[in-house]
Amino acid sequence: MDRRDFVESCALGAGALAATLAGPGWAATVVPRSYARTVLVDEYDRPILASRLKPKINYVFHYPFEATPVFLLELGKAAAPVALQTKDRQDYQWPGGVGPGRSIVAFSAICAHQLVYPTREVSFISFRKGPAVNPKTPSKGEDLIHCCADHSQYDPSRGAQVLGGPAEQPLCAVLLEHDPRNDQLTATGTLGGELFEAFFRKYEMKLSLEVGFHARNRVAARSTVRELERFCRNPVRC
Ligand code: FES
Repeated sequence: MDRRDFVESCALGAGALAATLAGPGWAATVVPRSYARTVLVDEYDRPILASRLKPKINYVFHYPFEATPVFLLELGKAAAPVALQTKDRQDYQWPGGVGPGRSIVAFSAICAHQLVYPTREVSFISFRKGPAVNPKTPSKGEDLIHCCADHSQYDPSRGAQVLGGPAEQPLCAVLLEHDPRNDQLTATGTLGGELFEAFFRKYEMKLSLEVGFHARNRVAARSTVRELERFCRNPVRC
């Protein structure tokens, strides 16, 4: 079986699995969008090894554009496929985690409510190990992605499904491939409700100052992964 046959048979298999999970008559109306095949690398430009990722640490990289941040997480437990919907009630099948333990996931870090995102100066949205710490914003569970702007909470073990707050759809998933021969991770596309156009419209001026004229450039062969605490000076907790 050549590579194309393999990819197509995986796609067919995913479709069959989706129908099985969601029940008879279910059909995905949102299909994956392909972007560059981008190898995830560390700050020394060495490929990240999936088995070396620290569990429940909030990593950040940029994909599919130079200005669009993504959370990368090793959940410490397997994440199974989940049937989800966008706010336009379009169905899709999040494929679950990748890597040796099927526990590595990635999601756009642009909040699905009002597009809050992590910058180098401050981040109001992040993954929290354990429950949320502020008693005024009761946590809907443990190990969630929490946006402090208006307290949307997303479950990264279930495709970033919304558990609480005003967000109307899951965070857009970033699709990863894990190569067991070398343990490397490659981002290949997105799945779910993309908000990139709205993001670029809302923050055009801000992004031109933060990132420069190449904010809308697509990430190419490599993207650097950093822990959120190294990427952002003030990760806000709430
Ligand atoms: S912008 Fe994230 S909850 Fe409002």
